[in-house]
Amino acid sequence: MSDAETLKRQAAARALEHVRSGMKLGLGTGSTAKHFVELLAERVAQGLEVVGVPTSEATRAQAESLDVPLGTLDEYPALDLVVDGADEVGPDLTLIKGGGGALLREKIVASAAAQMIVIADASKKVPTLGTFPLPIEVVDFGVAAIRRGIEKAVRRAGCQGLLTLRRRPDGHVFVTDQGHLILDAAFGVIPDPAALAACLADVPGVVEHGLFINLASRVILAGADGVTVLDR
Ligand code: 5RP
Repeated sequence: MSDAETLKRQAAARALEHVRSGMKLGLGTGSTAKHFVELLAERVAQGLEVVGVPTSEATRAQAESLDVPLGTLDEYPALDLVVDGADEVGPDLTLIKGGGGALLREKIVASAAAQMIVIADASKKVPTLGTFPLPIEVVDFGVAAIRRGIEKAVRRAGCQGLLTLRRRPDGHVFVTDQGHLILDAAFGVIPDPAALAACLADVPGVVEHGLFINLASRVILAGADGVTVLDR
């Protein structure tokens, strides 16, 4: 396992210490969350009783293949905990998420959970959000007009930058699990995440964005010098 994967697994292992039998658990998406699901499956095989609610079809497939019991958010609308990764962790544990394209389900699941624990390698911690392009999920209608609406709206929050329609490695347009598209916004710096979130929410056609504000209660960062826990 590479050094980066080892750090992700360390963060995931620390998050697993928060899991108790009987919990309804949101299962995040991405390479770090994948480690968590693997470790969770080992505990389930030893008798831990949990129900997982996956945040993506990819995570559902992984959890199913590892025999982690699963349910839906309709069956379990109030979750005890969600464990998920992040693309950036900024001040006040504000996050950029959605690098894996699952931001909509991730945000719905996080909002339904009593606690959100974010797991990441320490490189994800930043003084100011925005180096990682912000994923903005939009409907599959009038994307050029939606893009113009976003460009206009984000200027009010002091942001500007190139919006790129996300594509898969094979060149086809990336489509989310909910059938939407993603515009990745390379702002460089997001001076006021809450103001940007409010501006984006006003744009018709924007379904959701990857700014997670006041959702993460704990962030577990694994670095070369050990594991750091940040609380909000
Ligand atoms: C998926 C996400 C992921 O949690 C985020 O992209 C981090 O992924 P990774 O753990 O692979 O770095 O938000 O939509």
